[in-house]
Amino acid sequence: MSNKVYFDNAATTPLDKEVIAEMTKMMEQFYGNPSSTHAHGREVRTFIEEARRSVAKLLNCSPGEIFFTSGGTEADNMAIRKSVECLDVKHIITSAIEHHAVLHTIEELHKQEKAEMHLVNLLPNGHIDLLHLETLLQQYPQALVSLMHSNNELGNLLDIDRVGELCKQYQAIFHCDTVQTVGHFPIDLQKTHIDFIAAGAHKFRGPKGVGFIYVSSRNKINPYITGGAQERNMRGGTENVYGIIGLAKALQLSLKELDEEQKHISGIKSYMIEKLKANIQGIQFNGDAEGYSSYTVLNVSFPPTPIAEMMLFKLDIAGVSASGGSACSSGSNVGSHVLTALGVDSNRPAVRFSFGKQNTKEEVDFVIEKLVDMLKVKVSA
Ligand SMILES: Cc1ncc(COP(=O)(O)O)c(C=O)c1O
Repeated sequence: MSNKVYFDNAATTPLDKEVIAEMTKMMEQFYGNPSSTHAHGREVRTFIEEARRSVAKLLNCSPGEIFFTSGGTEADNMAIRKSVECLDVKHIITSAIEHHAVLHTIEELHKQEKAEMHLVNLLPNGHIDLLHLETLLQQYPQALVSLMHSNNELGNLLDIDRVGELCKQYQAIFHCDTVQTVGHFPIDLQKTHIDFIAAGAHKFRGPKGVGFIYVSSRNKINPYITGGAQERNMRGGTENVYGIIGLAKALQLSLKELDEEQKHISGIKSYMIEKLKANIQGIQFNGDAEGYSSYTVLNVSFPPTPIAEMMLFKLDIAGVSASGGSACSSGSNVGSHVLTALGVDSNRPAVRFSFGKQNTKEEVDFVIEKLVDMLKVKVSA
């Protein structure tokens, strides 16, 4: 192995070689504008529509329900803003641990008095309190419920079938930020009652700057970006053709190799948990790491240490890329809103390790060695 370890796959993943090959081939051979009606344009239009059909088939929905976007953030914004603008949503139920693409959007709408924001309670392990969700739905039927499938900082999973059923029962609209799960978990949009999902290709070994939104045909919304008839009038602007082609290829590959990937990456995560427990006294896992949690993410709180503030920097210097964000210890300290909401001890440095199919157990050993050295704790036999 090289002396650099990338354990930040929830931030972004490396591109799959087959995705690069597909995109390169397209870039070399096709350059027409898909909106042009001549042959050069038409052939590129065909590739975009093929990509849309492929994505729709993999998620078991209709191609007319998939709209390509610039990524997860745009898809989240579109779902939330259009629900308020076009679907008569006056109340939005969400949680304090959503991604900022969701939280900041809802907070803005709340401030502008366009919709009222209601936070659902969290259980101590960071899961959504579904009983409280039902109470809120009884109070605010026909609300928009925006809850993520897997939390990007903790890995905690949401039972989307159950939430979908609750939303159906109370005629609420369900937007699910699936940015961390598309390409990593099977999603069946016929089986699960969801109105909107959001995805970004770079989280499943596709290119950056491209994603999609699924809009259930139940919901009629108007254009998000005006000025062009692209994406069936919903999002004006010449399409990110090569990105879209790369996204479709990446999704196809990741779902084809899903069982294998899940098995391999779960093995890495379990090994990391085992090694951390064995080598670092007082280690804590945030969220429901060993329970209903994604196999890709592990959020760890280390024992208090004088190098707490330097932890990520020191890991970086040691060749380990991971991401952090301890709980805020003061109003001026912008820490992780997720760990703060969970009441995680702000004196303990927290690191999120997130894994991909290219990672190995050997890399876990390397990271543990660096951590042990850094924290100057005794290595067990
Ligand atoms: C849960 C979640 N939602 C939304 C986003 C934003 O996605 P993108 O980077 O494609 O805009 C991310 C990216 O980190 C994420 O993890």
